[in-house]
Amino acid sequence: MDIKEKLKSLQERVVQQLSLSKTDDAVEDIRVHLLGKKGDLTKILKGLKDLAPDQRPLVGQLANEIRHNLEEQIEDKRARLAKALLDRQLAAEQIDVTLPGKTVTIGTKHVLQQIQDQIEDHFISQGFQVMYGTEVETDEFNFARMNLPKDHPARDMQDTFYLTPNILLRTQTSAMQARAMDRHDFATGPLKMVSPGKVYRRDNDDATHSHQFHQVEGLVVGKGITLADLKGTLQALTDELFGKGHAMRFRQSYFPFTEPSLEVDISWNIVDDQTPAEDIRWIEVLGAGMVHPNVLKMAHIDPEEYTGFAFGLGPDRFAMIKYGIDDIRNFYLDDLRFLKQFSQVGK
Ligand code: DAH
Repeated sequence: MDIKEKLKSLQERVVQQLSLSKTDDAVEDIRVHLLGKKGDLTKILKGLKDLAPDQRPLVGQLANEIRHNLEEQIEDKRARLAKALLDRQLAAEQIDVTLPGKTVTIGTKHVLQQIQDQIEDHFISQGFQVMYGTEVETDEFNFARMNLPKDHPARDMQDTFYLTPNILLRTQTSAMQARAMDRHDFATGPLKMVSPGKVYRRDNDDATHSHQFHQVEGLVVGKGITLADLKGTLQALTDELFGKGHAMRFRQSYFPFTEPSLEVDISWNIVDDQTPAEDIRWIEVLGAGMVHPNVLKMAHIDPEEYTGFAFGLGPDRFAMIKYGIDDIRNFYLDDLRFLKQFSQVGK
């Protein structure tokens, strides 16, 4: 066989091998056997020097053409194999959109937040503004401005977490009263505000006590405000939250920042004028009273001209009444079995 025939038959063989090869590795094998240092084509090219000088250019040209052609075919085969591989992968990884998806559990508002929202919404509908205070407060606003100067004996009623001698975790949302009065421009009309939030006491936790709990403060200051306004305001709230028919009663009490001071009970059961007194089950829900003249004076409000009422209610208590929960610690344990029971409430 002369060298031209060798080249042709080599070309045919390689083309045939390529057409049969199924992997990139197989193609690489063919390439090395053809073009590598000891490859078949390389060997043939080495034989060129034995040719007659006038033959060399012609055969050399043919050999180059064949080499280019085979190189192209190898590249082409590689590209086709790669594409086929990709197509197979894409087919295998196709997403079946008809399969059921993963269930995502959607959280719900905590029952205490739901109650607070209901209380806020009610008061907003009555023309109150909502003011959020800060949980870290000064002694001045938590106590002094609430008519509780240092070493006032009533300070013992509220065991306090002190951060420094003058900075503390607020024990009551009443701390927002003085701030609200300071901010209000009485030329625009009466001040009507509620202030919900978390408060802290150094208490031992048990079924009815927690070292942190919630309060909603209420404050109305204006001209001619009376206890009757307080009663109407609270009755409207309980009617909305618990439904109509729960009676309310005021008992005399003591708070340094109100005079007179009251504790307010509502009836657990629905009652009317005919219900015998012994059948009414009272439960205490909040403290309230008429704003003490000293508190007004400290806010530079003339108690001869202005009066006001205030109240502080416990939404934890309200939630316990509303949903029949008997242990306050349930609110703070993050037990899903408890929390999930309220997932539909207030939607
Ligand atoms: N701050 C009182 C407490 O934490 C509750 C309270 C009582 C608030 C009477 C008031 C009020 O605004 O008038 O026990």
